[in-house]
Amino acid sequence: MGMIKTFRSVVQFQSLSMDPVEWRLRKAASIEDLRLIAKRRLPHGVFDYIDGGAEDERSLAANCSAFAGYEFRPRVLRDVSNLDTTTTIFGRQAAMPLIMAPTGFTRIAHSQGELAVARSAARAGIPWSLSTMGTRSIEEVAAVSDGEKWFQIYTWKDRALVKDMVDRAKSVGYTAVWLTVDTAILGRRERDVRRGMTLPPKIGLSTIVDGAIHPSWTLDFLRNEPITFANVTGLLDEDGSSAVTLSEHMARQFDQALSWDDIDWLRSIWDGPIVLKGIQTVADAKIAQRMGVEGLGLSNHGGRQLDDAPAPIDLVAPVRDEVGDGATIICDGGIRRGSDIVKALALGADAVSIGRPYLYGLAAAGERGVDHVLDFMRDGLERTMALTGCRTIAEINRDLVQRRP
Ligand SMILES: Cc1cc2nc3c(=O)[nH]c(=O)nc-3n(C[C@H](O)[C@H](O)[C@H](O)COP(=O)(O)O)c2cc1C
Repeated sequence: MGMIKTFRSVVQFQSLSMDPVEWRLRKAASIEDLRLIAKRRLPHGVFDYIDGGAEDERSLAANCSAFAGYEFRPRVLRDVSNLDTTTTIFGRQAAMPLIMAPTGFTRIAHSQGELAVARSAARAGIPWSLSTMGTRSIEEVAAVSDGEKWFQIYTWKDRALVKDMVDRAKSVGYTAVWLTVDTAILGRRERDVRRGMTLPPKIGLSTIVDGAIHPSWTLDFLRNEPITFANVTGLLDEDGSSAVTLSEHMARQFDQALSWDDIDWLRSIWDGPIVLKGIQTVADAKIAQRMGVEGLGLSNHGGRQLDDAPAPIDLVAPVRDEVGDGATIICDGGIRRGSDIVKALALGADAVSIGRPYLYGLAAAGERGVDHVLDFMRDGLERTMALTGCRTIAEINRDLVQRRP
């Protein structure tokens, strides 16, 4: 009896009343853990569309592993009792130097899609981006989120359509645009080829089997309105309501003639900041700066376009050295922890953005899964700042990192 009493007093029994989402997220200690939950819950083709990269996926792997090539030079005894992660991006306050990257077809991960991600980002006080290939419209998201919103442009051959989208974004308060420049044509994503992946997913025999063994995703998919390219619904022959492969769709609609001359055209229809998303060399960063582009998006599209494109984190320092203090540098690809954010900033970035991490969170547990990702990123950022002796974002500088010997 006495022993049981002692046992009770030292062992706190976990409450069994936990709701299923909390139960699922409780042990998700890292982005990789969320990725594994997403892998379990999503049909194979859907998971591979999100998780995969181009060709041999070497850029995909290198994006993450390149972060291991840097180590910290932590400073101690700096009184880190008051940390401040706030920063400004294009003159606007952000709670931390992190941006939600645009992802097409977000609702494929979860029916709430862009609405969930935008609401979560607004709560966290950071910018969120809508893709041209988004599955909620410019206006639908603006109606649920008063947070900072950016719009990502793919240039369709029909420029009037692009201008229309940019005008709509402006009129409902989006504050910056990304112009994606690494997607003249679509990269070859061999997982999608192997799976016969179309958007939206086709309901064939293999999809039925796949759907049956992933019932929660399938029910969510079937119970909610169809997934479409919501920004162009009714404006194109193909608005995503009939199943086509992404590469077919893009080959027909996207303008392969896009060139530096088009930056002036974009400037003529949009007066806010422009970020070129997909700069992959110092030479192109220099041209962009010369043309007065406000933001340099160092990115290889998460390893989904040109395989063996360089890892963006390795470009940050050389680009910063070349362009000086002028341009805003945003780096994406492989950021999976707060310490990755600190490394990118130390090397010279102003902010970073993430794609897959929030999609894994969304697939794992809907909006609360995205909250979980953003809490994890903020905690990691604060912890790394504390352990490296940085009290503010401004204190994160080049002295803080070195190449691992
Ligand atoms: C499923 C998926 C869809 C994406 N769709 C777009 C898109 O529509 N437009 C775009 O500019 N980038 C797109 N990207 C690239 C992201 O914006 C970002 O560059 C990339 O995800 C960053 O790498 P990370 O996933 O390692 O964080 C997409 C990425 C993923 C994973």
